[in-house]
Amino acid sequence: MTILAESFPETLDNLERDDGGLSGGTRDLVVSPMGEKALGVVMGNEVIPSQEASRADRVVARADILNAYSLFEPAVAPLIEAHNKATSKEDLLESIEAMYEGIDVPVSIADGGAASVFKIVIEGKSYAVRLANSDEIEGYIKGSSAGRGIKGLEQMIAASVEDLITISEIIPGKNGQRLNLDDMEAITDEQLISTLQMLKEAVDNGVRIDPNATNFMYDRDVGFGILDYGYDPNIEMDFPLEANVAAFAHLIAEGSLYSSVIESEEDAAAYYSKLEARLRVLKRFSDICRVQNEGERVVSEAVRIADYFEATMQRYAPGSAWVKEQVRQAVKLREWKSRDIKPDTFF
Ligand SMILES: Nc1ncnc2c1ncn2[C@@H]1O[C@H](COP(=O)(O)OP(=O)(O)OP(=O)(O)O)[C@@H](O)[C@H]1O
Ligand SMILES: [Mg+2]
Repeated sequence: MTILAESFPETLDNLERDDGGLSGGTRDLVVSPMGEKALGVVMGNEVIPSQEASRADRVVARADILNAYSLFEPAVAPLIEAHNKATSKEDLLESIEAMYEGIDVPVSIADGGAASVFKIVIEGKSYAVRLANSDEIEGYIKGSSAGRGIKGLEQMIAASVEDLITISEIIPGKNGQRLNLDDMEAITDEQLISTLQMLKEAVDNGVRIDPNATNFMYDRDVGFGILDYGYDPNIEMDFPLEANVAAFAHLIAEGSLYSSVIESEEDAAAYYSKLEARLRVLKRFSDICRVQNEGERVVSEAVRIADYFEATMQRYAPGSAWVKEQVRQAVKLREWKSRDIKPDTFF
């Protein structure tokens, strides 16, 4: 059932109801007279405004997420109480243990910058419960409404703005900060194709990903996933597909060029082979961008990052002047250390 209105209705009285045409899924929608804009979703006597008033499915998803919270509330209430009272992490974990009395005790997964995340089992299914530290969760719920149904993107099931809590399906795997050589070698072409598709669908639906490595997940069987994303009505202008492609390419190249101690030719050779594995993924990804025909800007962004990575990693190539210098310095350092000379006297 849909309800037609020129603008966001203060009251539902005197509005025309239409039983055919646009389907509101499981909810009644308030839509503009031509049905092209969703203005809100009816819940009881209330109308929840559609903040962007553009896509009915997004409005329905948001209402579903907020509505579903009552089903989860009993299971998460003790967690919220413990979180609000706790003065330290140890304190928090202890009171959770006590409150859940050994049954399906929530397990801490991560403490991010903006939230504490727990895994909780409810009726045999696992969920990621995110307790936010600030009240900035509206954007997160909006993002998740826009990302509903997009394969690979975090699927939020329930949320409460008041309790600062969101409950999502678990994305399998490890977060992008922990990708290693074996993971690089496990990434398949199909997974890269699905990733590009996910990045594209994100843009098409106004989803704005936050390109931190910790917001990407990778599982060898399932591939890449993305969590903790927001919504941007001007996404195609502000953050087009090539920006998402760059974010993913940076994830593959992430941090690796600055994170190793090179004290011998062997160190350099071992490190170089790890970089080569990353480069191979970057090159396969740029080939896939080309084959999938997402446009020249997308391809050139992927190629640019692969080329830059390849050029920069050459300093680690066995026998390079830079490696020779690192080895020379390491030898010198060991020698001076053995003669007990303080470092500030030899540089
Ligand atoms: N739905 C989920 N499935 C699996 N793991 C999750 C999920 N949500 C969060 N996590 C885990 O918790 C970590 C932090 O989550 P999130 O990004 O939501 O918090 P944050 O405070 O924004 O952290 P950060 O500042 O690191 O981005 C993720 O890197 C991931 O390891
Ligand atoms: Mg995050």
